[in-house]
Amino acid sequence: MNIAELTRTVKAISQSGKGILAADESFPTIQKRFDNINIPSTDENRQAYRDLLFTTPNVNEFISGVILFEETLFTKAINGTPFPKLLSDLGIVPGIKVDKGTVPLENANGEKITEGLDGLVERLQEYKKHGAKFAKWRAVFNISDKTPSDIAIRLNAVSLASYASICQHEDIVPIVEPEILIDGKHTIEECAEKSGNVLSAVFQELREQKVLLENIILKPSMVISGKECPQQASIDAVAAYTLAILRETVPAAVQTINFLSGGQSPELATAHLNAMNASEIEKPWNLSFSYGRALQEPALTAWKGKAENIEAAQQAFYKRAKLNSAACLGQYMANME
Ligand code: 13P
Repeated sequence: MNIAELTRTVKAISQSGKGILAADESFPTIQKRFDNINIPSTDENRQAYRDLLFTTPNVNEFISGVILFEETLFTKAINGTPFPKLLSDLGIVPGIKVDKGTVPLENANGEKITEGLDGLVERLQEYKKHGAKFAKWRAVFNISDKTPSDIAIRLNAVSLASYASICQHEDIVPIVEPEILIDGKHTIEECAEKSGNVLSAVFQELREQKVLLENIILKPSMVISGKECPQQASIDAVAAYTLAILRETVPAAVQTINFLSGGQSPELATAHLNAMNASEIEKPWNLSFSYGRALQEPALTAWKGKAENIEAAQQAFYKRAKLNSAACLGQYMANME
């Protein structure tokens, strides 16, 4: 394990005022995104879309890392440069989603377990040759009366920690992503309690498997009201609950926490991050973003799959990246929209 290399990667990603673009949509997920703009998910469309995002002029002012889907890691940009090289030439660290998605956990109320440990060492070695410096593994939990269950929490925590340990031994920084879904009627208080249970279990397992906490990136969901909860918590409440749960469960050894957006609107995802960074509550970690939808939605809507809209799409992406950068510094204001 090359600790100096892991440390360099974490430092490069956690630069102040910068964050991660999650552009690692799997085939079914990118299909869903393209369905929204009525275009098919062809090789050409996926290449054109990822090309427009990564070649957005000056976006490296705000984006320090991009998570790629395996296909994109092995694809060339329109100018012929392999995507990972195009990114690293811009000072943006290329990363790779390495989990293989979820399968149902038997006898567990529809809960899921993330797969992908088989052959992971060999895959990481191949990804590394193609320029990947960090990886991502997403575990997913849903909130209901009976869930997340202890067994779903424990099994997913074990897999997340096993993945993280394997990555570090291959000199790849692991993004540890336990996502609590926003779907449901639950209150913010329920989300806080269940997020605390999940994060505690994840850190206990990371410690047991001797993962170096200095050399991971934590990618959690925010503590937030369920989408169908009639009483939606305020921006300040989301910031306060999220910080309280993180302070209780995430050791200060962790350098950077990069939130997922999880289906929040782009504006709310920015406002929540900003409220946390503007808060006077002490935060021992860098707090930034690793957004997929909240960074991409306006760009995708502007693009609609048409070459003549590329510039407008890039402007929309640049704007969201810039506003989220301001949110990392606690300097975002709604009138900047
Ligand atoms: P969202 O920000 O759209 O939740 O995507 C982030 C991600 O990488 C989910 O795994």
